[in-house]
Amino acid sequence: MERLQKVIANSGLCSRRVAEELIEQGKVTVNGEVIQTMGVKVSKKDHILVDGKALPESNLVYYVLYKPEGCVSTVEDEKNRKTVLDFVPSTERVFPVGRLDYDTSGLLLITNDGTFSNLMTQPTSRIEKEYLVKVEGFLRKETSARVERGIKIDDYKTRRARIRNVVYNKKTETTSLSLIITEGKYHQVKRMFEAVNHPVIKLKRTRLGIVTLDDMAKGEFRLLKPHELKQLRHLAKKK
Ligand code: URA
Repeated sequence: MERLQKVIANSGLCSRRVAEELIEQGKVTVNGEVIQTMGVKVSKKDHILVDGKALPESNLVYYVLYKPEGCVSTVEDEKNRKTVLDFVPSTERVFPVGRLDYDTSGLLLITNDGTFSNLMTQPTSRIEKEYLVKVEGFLRKETSARVERGIKIDDYKTRRARIRNVVYNKKTETTSLSLIITEGKYHQVKRMFEAVNHPVIKLKRTRLGIVTLDDMAKGEFRLLKPHELKQLRHLAKKK
């Protein structure tokens, strides 16, 4: 037996706080009866409806998190820092798909589906990743074109990339731009701009394939929509 709000949150439908609000608003029924008091315990046999709809069936969950800066993309941290899992419901054994640096914000997928995670992170996957990047200095057109063609990092050359929406800020002597890449090597974006002497000051991932942050706020999560999941799987398999 588990508390109703926990069962709702663990289904991946929403956070526990939102589940409590839904209960208070009289939107949750258990075996046909509206439950508005907190702490009611339910079991697997109970029939729970939220807004008249059953909870998601599968125990596989797929979240889109707007990762804030100041947390690690790991399940645990030996230094006891905040992790990305502090922002999603405490569903069984979820983990981030790939990584964003401690000081990087933006779109991160979190799941308990290992097969999906492997598919997304395999080196042959060419899913587009879009970043909003702020770099030091004035980024010349030629430099931008060099980055797009591919930059040598150690013994490796980055794949073709796209840069758009380049804006120079005279006051701060920084350049903001959108960068689209189709790979995800360790510290890739920072190393690409480091290699052309424009250190990255700020980095945010805004898109993964067709998945965007919409109007989410930092620290918020949502469920990945079924068509987004389908599309990501499709794109990851495409060579
Ligand atoms: N590239 C980086 O350098 N850091 C990130 O967090 C993501 C991409």
